[in-house]
Amino acid sequence: MKTQQLQRRITRREAVIGVVGQGYVGLSLAASAAVEGMTVRAVDVDTDRIQQLAAGSNVVPGVDDALFANAVEAGRLFFGTDAAALADCDVVVICVPTPVVEHRPDLRFIEDAGRAVAGHLRRDSLVVLESTTYPGTTEQVLRPLLEAHGLRAGRDFLLAYSPERIDPGNVKYGLRNTPRVVGGIDEPSSQTAGMFYDQLVDEVEVLSSCRAAEMAKLLENTFRMVNIALVNELATLCSEQQIDVWEVIRAAATKPFGFMPFYPGPGVGGHCIPLDPTYLAWQSRRDTGRPFRLVETAQDINAHMPTYVTSRVIEALSDHGKAVKGANILALGVTYKPDVGDLRESAAIEVLARLVSKGAKVTFHDPFVTEIREHGLSLRGSSLSRTSLAAADIVLLLTPHSTYDVDMVAEHAKLLFDARNATNGSRRPTVVTL
Ligand SMILES: NC(=O)c1ccc[n+]([C@@H]2O[C@H](COP(=O)([O-])OP(=O)(O)OC[C@H]3O[C@@H](n4cnc5c(N)ncnc54)[C@H](O)[C@@H]3O)[C@@H](O)[C@H]2O)c1
Repeated sequence: MKTQQLQRRITRREAVIGVVGQGYVGLSLAASAAVEGMTVRAVDVDTDRIQQLAAGSNVVPGVDDALFANAVEAGRLFFGTDAAALADCDVVVICVPTPVVEHRPDLRFIEDAGRAVAGHLRRDSLVVLESTTYPGTTEQVLRPLLEAHGLRAGRDFLLAYSPERIDPGNVKYGLRNTPRVVGGIDEPSSQTAGMFYDQLVDEVEVLSSCRAAEMAKLLENTFRMVNIALVNELATLCSEQQIDVWEVIRAAATKPFGFMPFYPGPGVGGHCIPLDPTYLAWQSRRDTGRPFRLVETAQDINAHMPTYVTSRVIEALSDHGKAVKGANILALGVTYKPDVGDLRESAAIEVLARLVSKGAKVTFHDPFVTEIREHGLSLRGSSLSRTSLAAADIVLLLTPHSTYDVDMVAEHAKLLFDARNATNGSRRPTVVTL
């Protein structure tokens, strides 16, 4: 195999890059590679999306507008729906969804993408999988599909895995300054994939195998999910014991070593942290017959949080002489985390659905969301003003977007349930904190 030739093309930025899947992950990568001087063939099966991207419209939420504009301006980013465009690519990166369906990984999109890439795979090229998945996927699921037309991984082309670790809405850490983890099926695959990401990312950690890189991604997100479950459970205990859990976490975080703060909330949302650990739990049961106990317990605790928050809201209303049935409730922030427009797996939605089922009259405000049509809800966003705050029997601060003037909210709400301690230890008698 002409590995050195490929490596030279990569480091000279002469390599042609194919990116399969133009969602948040794929488009961010494609645009970055184009800005760095590489020619990029960006492929997606979604015709509408491709037409809009090709027309210069950044239709993928979360992808930086300036990055997209610069990539288009560079004139090296080509969009299409036909995988045949990959035929002249030196490097092909697969960034397709990996959903969890009924507690099982659904690798359909990786399989479809693998078959499409295989039909146009070039000898002496590199294929990288970026989608989040369980260890073994690259070698056991993707590799045989890529080899279907006679080329052999390790002999005719290189194969690696590199998880995307991007954190939507994070203004400090983006694609360039978030270190990359890369692992290949063999040494040349690992090294060459490392060289590719070196062109785009400040720091690259090259591992010995695809499986280690796949597992590293699951460890990161499982670590986060389990620690959130820990503070969620602690929050329920602290509430019963009249201890301020936020003060407790603040105190523990003063320890300069061995502790990292996580914060309680209405649940765990987004499409990564709640779902990725499921891959681990599923694989453990499939391959060892044993449950991954910590993951399953943590998922259980987090899944209970919307119910718990609902019960605390009902209790707060009742303490102020009001029944939940017929109560006017205004919820502020319904996306899964502040400053992103993503409703996927948002625990706030479940809280609202539970309150509606108890007979509450629920309205919401969110700068990113105009309507909610899920969980049996059909709600249109309402305005946020002193009048709307004062009109509600209780205001719920579920996702504290940075544009919210929390002091103003606390001042004008008759009663405020603050699920995220946005009021930061407010002593107002009308503020109840999770
Ligand atoms: N979004 C994130 O913050 C994030 C962060 C880290 C990792 N990830 C992981 O990266 C992967 C991609 O995530 P995303 O958020 O970009 O997904 P997404 O759903 O936003 O986009 C995926 C795109 O792939 C396209 N697609 C599906 N099948 C295809 C095929 N066979 N050929 C070509 N295109 C195809 C879809 O049309 C869609 O446009 C997932 O595994 C996800 O878990 C996402």
